[in-house]
Amino acid sequence: MGKTVLEMKEVTKSFGATKALKQVSIDLREREILAICGENGAGKSTLMKVLSGSYENGSYEGEICIDGKPCVFKTPADASAAGIEMIYQEISVHLDLSVAENIFLGRIPLRAGLVQWKHMHEEAKIYAEMVGLKVPVTTLLRDLSASQCQMVSIARALSRNPKILVLDEPTSPLTDGEVEDLFKILNRLRDNGISCIYISHKIKEIKQLADRVCIMRDGMHVWTKPASELSTEEIVEAMVNRKIGNLYPKEAVELGEVVFSVKNLRVKHPYNRKKYIVDGVDFNVRQGEILGLVGLVGSGRSETVNAIFGAIDGSYDELSIEGKATRIIDPQDAIRKGLALLSEDRKVNGFIPTLNLARNITLARLDKVFRKGILNREAEQAIGRDYIDRLSIKTNSERDMVTSLSGGNQQKVVLAKWLLAEPKVLFLDEPTRGIDVGAKAQIYQIMTQLVRQGMAIVMISSELTELVGMCDRYLLLADGKIRAELGREDADEEKFLRICSGSNS
Ligand SMILES: Nc1ncnc2c1ncn2[C@@H]1O[C@H](COP(=O)(O)OP(=O)(O)OP(=O)(O)O)[C@@H](O)[C@H]1O
Ligand SMILES: [Mg+2]
Repeated sequence: MGKTVLEMKEVTKSFGATKALKQVSIDLREREILAICGENGAGKSTLMKVLSGSYENGSYEGEICIDGKPCVFKTPADASAAGIEMIYQEISVHLDLSVAENIFLGRIPLRAGLVQWKHMHEEAKIYAEMVGLKVPVTTLLRDLSASQCQMVSIARALSRNPKILVLDEPTSPLTDGEVEDLFKILNRLRDNGISCIYISHKIKEIKQLADRVCIMRDGMHVWTKPASELSTEEIVEAMVNRKIGNLYPKEAVELGEVVFSVKNLRVKHPYNRKKYIVDGVDFNVRQGEILGLVGLVGSGRSETVNAIFGAIDGSYDELSIEGKATRIIDPQDAIRKGLALLSEDRKVNGFIPTLNLARNITLARLDKVFRKGILNREAEQAIGRDYIDRLSIKTNSERDMVTSLSGGNQQKVVLAKWLLAEPKVLFLDEPTRGIDVGAKAQIYQIMTQLVRQGMAIVMISSELTELVGMCDRYLLLADGKIRAELGREDADEEKFLRICSGSNS
């Protein structure tokens, strides 16, 4: 066993009345990948923000020791200087800068006051290649997918030559293939003597990758054990402190009328205007049905639902809702016509950070809280409390800001908003991203209730197990076209991958 490189001792951190961390102690060894698991709001990200200097020394109690020596971090730069690099749960890249500029942000190479572009681009290329990023380093991040942006943040961290690399749910925006690439990188780093702390809700990943697993619950450290001795059930039960039965409560629901259909949907490629990222997609969905859109990143899944919703530009020959032909102008119009979209990027399309929880939840149904043009605060707060309860959102009050919630709980707020909207068709783009197993089970149960009441659901997910578990029918997309349609009885993950990766571009 390697020597201990990092110790965090008895760390306690409060936010007002919330005790996010209660005397948490962990240690990390040389050449080790330590996984941290815990439910949404357990305190994982907070612990890592303490480590990375995002929370200034003095704003918490406890001690951080590196190689046995106590360290004081007042800023992320201090932690970075001590060899700690962090990849955050929220994507933290600059969209208007290039890949190379993002990698070298804060230390752009200068000579005599001039940027050494050539030098910078050459070096950036090395790191981009290291993480398998196959775009020119001059590309603006705005033109990259979420997963490519994530690769850029990893390249940036690596370029700083860290001793300890912290990854907080790095795989949320990644597809299975990209996850494998990332794991290869992490294993190689470990062989080169770098230690990693890895946070994920995907137990499968953890079992595959980690040397030891640390469980956190309610701001406390529960235990740390070697991964090889643990079963998935043991990890899950320690996280949630109860047993979870069947994760996928799939029921046979009698299908009703076709409630939504679209013909020849097309969306232009964002930066290659000659190409289409969605290229003639036709589909329909019935009341009571859960339809899965399966595909790799770049297959046009998200663009399909965003174009339907009017959130991005697209065209179609025909779109009908409950048998009536219509056109959708923008998202407001889509909501009015009975559609709802839980989007992949909750920060951009999901909630408004300056509004509190209850107000965010009621945003798409202001008619429920306005009486004769006057806001009824009590109604608003009652609705807020109701959904906090129904989705077990971890918060002190419905008046708290959404930004004070943990990542997974923010996702639940967005979901609550769409549940309250009671749409006819609910489009879910990665609905359980960043959500812990217990909460996932709740979301699947809610989906089951909704379709039982006659709602139609169109679901996108990179977690193929979840699609196999929940959908009635599947459309397999590659290069913007539907390549196959499968029924529930024919669905399996390998078949999905085979068909979706058999693209010819
Ligand atoms: N800036 C903040 N202000 C107030 N409360 C906060 C803040 N940041 C975190 N919290 C609270 O601290 C607790 C722990 O949050 P944290 O983000 O560490 O959870 P997590 O384990 O990372 O969860 P997730 O899996 O959802 O990302 C939560 O109850 C959260 O609401
Ligand atoms: Mg977190």
